[in-house]
Amino acid sequence: MGCKTAGSFDSSLQADRGGFFVLCTACMDAVHDHGAIARLRAEAQRCKACPLWRYATQTVFGEGSASAPVMLVGEQPGNEEDRQGHPFVGPAGLLLARALEDAGISRDAVYVTNAVKHFKWEPRGKRRIHKTPAQREIDACNRWLNAEIDSVRPRMIVCLGATAGRAVLGYSIRIGSLRGVLHAAAERPAQQVAVTYHPAYVLRQRDQERFAAAYGELVADLRGVAHALHESAELALR
Ligand code: URA
Repeated sequence: MGCKTAGSFDSSLQADRGGFFVLCTACMDAVHDHGAIARLRAEAQRCKACPLWRYATQTVFGEGSASAPVMLVGEQPGNEEDRQGHPFVGPAGLLLARALEDAGISRDAVYVTNAVKHFKWEPRGKRRIHKTPAQREIDACNRWLNAEIDSVRPRMIVCLGATAGRAVLGYSIRIGSLRGVLHAAAERPAQQVAVTYHPAYVLRQRDQERFAAAYGELVADLRGVAHALHESAELALR
């Protein structure tokens, strides 16, 4: 291995059931400012760049390791996330946690965030129903996502769904035709970008067969991410 520092190696991100992706914690800490994310989170609590703040309980900022090699980007917080103030803690988050585990990726090894940091909803009876964010809301929130990417500097960004894909890549995408390959974001040469299904899309599948197929594809895409990281880490250490 090429690393000469005294850092330990984090084996929490497995490339597959057989191999390990190794991260030297001392190297990581040297290049990442762990306070930066906390400062951004505090600043984002006051964000009024679009009208969504008026109807949401709070800003839901990203969470996870400040030096994570993988950043997962969702669409926007849901009902549960809005109440609790943490990303992916509702039903979609539970499915995501399961998919990460099945793909051999510890949730501790990823930074999880959203393209839009406020819950957009409309009332239906007593319920708050999710509404897809508009382009202007995605654009207004982009400064936070960019700041998170600049701070964490992940090697891989995984876009969960089309809104995240649009926010990261800068153009409209169709998940079905773009998943399974790695993309480059023009303004982000340091990152590779993968797109896959949003876990809420998997949950929406009507019968068990469709659910199993969509879930299997989500896990396969996440395994591909772990595998690509494993390979690039090996090359860097040669
Ligand atoms: N869906 C998302 O896109 N993000 C969350 O945090 C929760 C649900």
